[in-house]
Amino acid sequence: MSDNLQDHPVLVVDFGAQYAQLIARRVRECALYSEVVPHTMSAEEMLAKNPAAIVLSGGPSSVYADGAPSLDVALLEAGVPVFGICYGFQAMAHALGGTVAHTGGREYGHTMATITHTDSILFDGQPAEQAVWMSHGDGVSEAPTGMTVCARTPGAPVAAFEDAERKLFGVQWHPEVLHSTHGQEVLRNFLLNGAGLKAEWTPANMAEELVAQVREQIGEGRAICGLSGGVDSSVAAAMVQKAIGDRLTCVFVDHGLLRAGEAEQVKEDFVAATGVDLVVVDASERFLEALAGQSDPETKRKIIGREFIRVFEQAARDIVGAESDSEHPVEFLVQGTLYPDVVESGGGTGAANIKSHHNVGGLPDDLQFKLVEPLRALFKDEVRQVGLELGVPDSIVWRQPFPGPGLGIRIIGEVTAERLEILRAADKIAREELTAAGLDRDIWQCPVVLLADVRSVGVQGDGRTYGHPIVLRPVSSEDAMTADWTRLPYDVLATISNRITNEVSDVNRVVLDVTSKPPGTIEWE
Ligand code: XMP
Repeated sequence: MSDNLQDHPVLVVDFGAQYAQLIARRVRECALYSEVVPHTMSAEEMLAKNPAAIVLSGGPSSVYADGAPSLDVALLEAGVPVFGICYGFQAMAHALGGTVAHTGGREYGHTMATITHTDSILFDGQPAEQAVWMSHGDGVSEAPTGMTVCARTPGAPVAAFEDAERKLFGVQWHPEVLHSTHGQEVLRNFLLNGAGLKAEWTPANMAEELVAQVREQIGEGRAICGLSGGVDSSVAAAMVQKAIGDRLTCVFVDHGLLRAGEAEQVKEDFVAATGVDLVVVDASERFLEALAGQSDPETKRKIIGREFIRVFEQAARDIVGAESDSEHPVEFLVQGTLYPDVVESGGGTGAANIKSHHNVGGLPDDLQFKLVEPLRALFKDEVRQVGLELGVPDSIVWRQPFPGPGLGIRIIGEVTAERLEILRAADKIAREELTAAGLDRDIWQCPVVLLADVRSVGVQGDGRTYGHPIVLRPVSSEDAMTADWTRLPYDVLATISNRITNEVSDVNRVVLDVTSKPPGTIEWE
């Protein structure tokens, strides 16, 4: 790898659609580095980023609407390959002298596109008829001079065009959504054949480039990192360890609210696989004491958050005191911030944009660290790929999302040691059976919830029981903002239910949560 791959991003210009991030991900899936930039950024600034190519996203407006985001023709004349999508396609046509008109028919959702140009670069190797996902009112009625029209749909006579010489391309539909059956191939054809880019953003190259950046940022300095057992903090730690070795110290606050085996995975497997220097603070007693008598969800969350900060802060002070010398103080704090957080909080550089949702936000003023965020350019799936590349164990890399407050918010009612034990046992069975059925990657996550304040009557053996219900909450989701309950196979549900009621004392009933989000949330508290 000669040059830094991030120095020549594929820019995705966000015209205000919810699709820009998705497009950026799709570009990454072609093994090319991409960045989302707002359409309000000037063409000059965009070009100053030395883009390898530019993708213009869809957007909600008509190019003729008041205040419609405009497209500076300079962007199309700079010799940088450009691909316009939906609104971006129309904005391109408009800027280059084509005609955009109210075509009368609106097209939303599924439609069939007919490829009319047989030598097309975009559609090379694809069928002449393909299902595409549309969402437009206006349409291009006349392509700009020099553009070859490549496709039409029932509602759009000019549904795609290209000019191989100027490296300008566009489609009216949304190739980034999976309903467009050949969308990813169209995008890949643009990037690799139209723009002539090399697919080099591979896990190995990503890891190499990001590790080098961390090394440069930290120099001879020292860093600490809070490990939660989740994917992001684990991969961030592994990356920084690769960069600076034992000048990184990790802190794992065991709050006693993790699931069966998870603390061991961090304390043993992760350390063995990555060689990180780990300080474990066993604070489970402290958390239990602080949670005693509390059953209000928000109060429980606040207590867990507060205790976490206090314990982490003390551990950080101890490490800073023990590890620093006057020349090399511990001055860096590693966080697992991901690219979607960066985009959603304004996309800029610098510490001002960083969300403090990683549990170690509210550190006191006299404990100020410089942030190291080695994953801030990555999407979740890339974090996983890089994690595997860095040797992070599969059990951690493929871990489903798990809330920071842990099982504390999956016990409905007061959290006690006995209740944690019951929930851990039930959760372990559910996870074992979902794994055995090969369903782990089909579901987003499956909270298992103990209704500790509810008692249900049952009969086991010869006797009547008075136990607690366990709720299974399997959900499917793209991003946890919305979710649907997963239609798990009945036989898997039956096995989980049988095993839980047989093997876990005090549980005599297993129920399935069949609520989507909204109106429900994923977690019960
Ligand atoms: P809800 O319950 O709001 O959850 O639908 C959405 C996603 O966020 C996770 N979650 C949390 N993650 N700290 C976290 O780190 C939290 O306090 C927290 N609460 C919910 C939840 O598991 C789901 O993936």
